[in-house]
Amino acid sequence: MASGRIPREFIDDLLTRADVVDVINARVPLKKKGREYGACCPFHNEKTPSFTVSPSKQFYHCFGCGVHGSAITFLMEYEHLDFVEAIESLADSMGVIVPREQGGKAPSPEQRQRSKDLYSLLEDANNYYQLQLKNTPQAVDYLKDRKLSGEVCKRYNIGYSLSGWDHTLKQFANNSPTNTSQNYSERQLIDSGLVIKKDDGKMYDRYRDRIMFPIRNRKGQVIGFGGRVLGDELPKYINSPETTVFHKGRELYGLYEARKNTQKLDRIIVVEGYMDVIALSQFDISYAVATLGTATTQDHIKQLFRAVPEIIFCFDGDRAGREAAWRALENAMPVMQDGKEIRFLFLPDGEDPDTQVRKIGKDAFEANYKNASSLNAYFIENLHERFNITSDEGKARFIEEAAKILQLMPDTLVKDQLISRLAKQTNIEENILRKRQLSSQGNKNNFTSTAPNTGFSRISNREVRQTPVRYAISLLLNEPSLIQTINNIEEIALSKLPGSDLLTTLIEALQENPNIKPVALLERWKNTEFEAPLTQLMKWQPESEDFEILKSEFQGCLKQIRKRADETKIEHLLHLERTIGLSEPQGQALLLLLKNKN
Ligand code: UTP
Ligand code: MN
Repeated sequence: MASGRIPREFIDDLLTRADVVDVINARVPLKKKGREYGACCPFHNEKTPSFTVSPSKQFYHCFGCGVHGSAITFLMEYEHLDFVEAIESLADSMGVIVPREQGGKAPSPEQRQRSKDLYSLLEDANNYYQLQLKNTPQAVDYLKDRKLSGEVCKRYNIGYSLSGWDHTLKQFANNSPTNTSQNYSERQLIDSGLVIKKDDGKMYDRYRDRIMFPIRNRKGQVIGFGGRVLGDELPKYINSPETTVFHKGRELYGLYEARKNTQKLDRIIVVEGYMDVIALSQFDISYAVATLGTATTQDHIKQLFRAVPEIIFCFDGDRAGREAAWRALENAMPVMQDGKEIRFLFLPDGEDPDTQVRKIGKDAFEANYKNASSLNAYFIENLHERFNITSDEGKARFIEEAAKILQLMPDTLVKDQLISRLAKQTNIEENILRKRQLSSQGNKNNFTSTAPNTGFSRISNREVRQTPVRYAISLLLNEPSLIQTINNIEEIALSKLPGSDLLTTLIEALQENPNIKPVALLERWKNTEFEAPLTQLMKWQPESEDFEILKSEFQGCLKQIRKRADETKIEHLLHLERTIGLSEPQGQALLLLLKNKN
C-alpha cells in the first residue's frame, strides 16, 4: 500500500492531461452528441441515455441518477477504487508515476514495508485459525449448533483461536522455538492487534478460545478479526483494535464477500452483526454487510453508495434498534443523493436477521423490504412519534428538529420532496420550512436556496439577472480563459453577494494556474463548502459557445457585482458620515459613488 500525501499539483496536472472521454470510453462506449458524449448510465439501469460527458469541462454527469465528477471520480465509482487507487490507476494508464510528498506524515520505506508485512501476518493468522477450527471439535460443534453450514463457514473463512495465552504468539514470533511458519517481529505482532503487550512487558494473545471472523478490506486483504466466545461469557465479541490497516469507522464486514458472491450487486442490506451477515448469506442473501460494533458512519454510507444505489438498514425493533436507526439517518442525510435510496427495516422485537431468516426463509425475508420505510417516511414517522403537533408548542419543536436535520442535506430532489411532504403533514407553508432550515444553516452555503436542484440547466437571461455571481462562476468554468478579462477582484469580495467567496477563490486559483482544468478544482475542493455549489454550476451550460458573447455576458455579471460592491461602499460611507463624520477624500469618494449610481 503506497501512502504519503500525493502533491496537489500532481493531481491538478493529471486531470489536465488525462481525457475523461478516453477514460470512460474504455469502459463504457460513448457516442458523440453535439459538443458532448453520451451513453446509458453505468450507475443505474436505464434504456435511454442520460449519461453525458463533456470533453471541454472534463466532467461527466447523469441527468437520471445525478452521479457526476472527474476522471478520478469515475474510476472510483466504476471500479470501486478509493481516491488514491483511482489516481494510481489513472497515472498508470498515462505511464506516469505518482510522486509522494516527503516529511509530515509520509511513511518511511520501513513503515511501508511494515504494513505490507501486516497484511501477510493477518492472512497467515487467518489460515492458522481456520486450521485450528478443523482440529477443535467443540468449536465445530458450536457452529453446528448455530446451524451454520460448512459451506458458508468456508465462504467467510471462519476460524478458531485456541484457548491458552500464547498459541498465536508462539506460532508467529520470530524468536519462538516452536515457530513453524513465517517470522514476524514482536512489533508486528503487536501492531497487527493479534498480540497484546502488558506494562510489565509480557505478551499474550488477544484472541483465546474464540470463533474467529476475518474482516477484509475492499481488495480482499485480511485487516482484522472479530472473535466470539463459545459460551455466554463477556465480552461476547472482541474486535481488532484500530491499527494502521484497520479503521472501524471505514470498514464494513462482508462487503468484499458480498461483491464477490453477488453477480450484480444492486442493493445492500446493512445489519448489526457478523452472525447476521453469515446467516443471510447461507440463505442466499449474499448482499449483507455489518458495521463493526459501531454506528454507521457517513464514510460507510458514501462507500456503499459507490457500490449500489439502494441501501436497506435493518435494525431490531427494540429501543436500541430505533436509536441506532436515527443515528444512521443523521449520518445518511448529508450524503444523500438523487437516484439513491435508503430504507429502514425493523424486525420484530427479539429477532435479529440471523434468527429471522432461519424462521421465515429468504423469500419472506426479502418480501419484508416492501414494508420498510423510506428515508423520508422514517424521518417523518419518527418526528411524529416524538412531537405532538396538535399543540402549537409541539409543532414548533417539530419544525425546529426537522430544520436541524434538513440543513444537513445537500440540495436534492429528495430534499425537496421531503420538505413538501413535511409541509403537507404539518400544515405549515413550505416557505417557512425552507427559510427555517436555511436560517439554521447560516451562510455556510449560499447556493442551496435557489440553485437548480438537478438536471442540466440552460442559463436564461432572467436567471442571470438574479444571480450574477453564480452565472459568472459557471461562465468561468465553461471558459477559463475569461480570467484574462478580470482586473479588479477586490470588488467581488466587497459585494458580499452570496457565492462571492467561491468566485474570488476560483479566480485566484485560475490566475495562479491558467491551465488548470476546473474539474481539478472540483477534486481539490472536495469536502469543503465549495464542493456542492461548484458541482451544481459545473452542470450549467451557457447557450452560446462564442467567446465574444461569453465575454460580454461575463462582463455584464462583473458590472452587476461591482454595482453591488459600490452600494456596500456607499452604505459604509453613509454610516461613517452619520457617526464619526467623513474625511475630505472620503466625502469625495461618496459623491463620486452616488453620481455613478444614477
Ligand atoms: P449482537 O449481540 O447482536 O451479536 O451484536 P450477533 O452478531 O447477533 O451475535 P450472536 O448471534 O449473539 O452470536 C452485534 C454486533 O455488535 C458487535 C459485533 O460486531 C456484533 O456482531 N459487538 C457485540 C461487539 O463488538 N462486542 C460485543 O461484546 C457485542
Ligand atoms: Mn445474533
